[in-house]
Amino acid sequence: MAETVISAERDKDSVTEAGAFLSERWGRLDPAVCLVCGSGWGKVVEDFGSGESLSYSEIPGMSQTTVSGHAGNLHLRELGNKQFLVFQGRRHFYEGVGWGPIRFPILLAKELGTETLFLTNAAGGLSPSFKVADLMVLRDHLNFMPGNPLIGPVLHPDSPRFPDQSQVYDPELRRLLCEVGEKHGVRIHQGSYLALSGPAFETPAEISAFAKLGADAVGMSTVPEAMLGNALGMKVVGLSCISNLAAGISEEPLSHDDVEKASAEALPKMKRVVRGFLEELLAQGLD
Ligand code: HPA
Repeated sequence: MAETVISAERDKDSVTEAGAFLSERWGRLDPAVCLVCGSGWGKVVEDFGSGESLSYSEIPGMSQTTVSGHAGNLHLRELGNKQFLVFQGRRHFYEGVGWGPIRFPILLAKELGTETLFLTNAAGGLSPSFKVADLMVLRDHLNFMPGNPLIGPVLHPDSPRFPDQSQVYDPELRRLLCEVGEKHGVRIHQGSYLALSGPAFETPAEISAFAKLGADAVGMSTVPEAMLGNALGMKVVGLSCISNLAAGISEEPLSHDDVEKASAEALPKMKRVVRGFLEELLAQGLD
């Protein structure tokens, strides 16, 4: 507990320092949206043209990613004269770094005035209607991680001590994401995402139990960031690429290589949906 308290206090100081550093390096900063790219999603940034970029290790208080497919760069890009941030890669609880580095990007986005959080990930599919490379908008989640990223002092004046979680994922943005999918010929499911710490994939018995609990997809990220964004009063939207069928549903052994391969195959449609969604969001002023 003492450790959690100290790290939450540290978050505050280093987030302020990182915000000041970015404002000094990049000048006027008014990002409307913060996109966090999970496994396989980082290459969507190729479709946003040029702009400012920094490695996480250059930003005070940020630590570098350790997992393949998570480049570890922060980008500032613009669409229709509106700025947005792209965190290309994330830290995970299974890396053993605690909640601090997982919270940091979200707190930094909040510090810079961002009000919309767009979280992406690769996930294993449980729902019988899912195929590999399908996309799923998060309608809700089940937090099966060992703990809660909000434990400790309240992280921000905008965050209540006991945040409501009856609608973590913004319904208007979920609808918009599905509409954008339709417009671009990409079918997007909606479902519940169950988060575990990993790093081991699940057993077939666990997957069978999670399906009974209502999980449509399973993964090792996103939920802590969504909980924090929600607690900070941000609009949150989440999108999974079903990179594999979950253990026991698939006959095949699971591997991170296969997760990356499936995401690479789905990349063209991921790019269309992410860019289309950001364009609509910013043009319609829903950010
Ligand atoms: N389980 C957990 N996390 C994952 C999976 C999975 O099957 N696929 C991608 N991330």
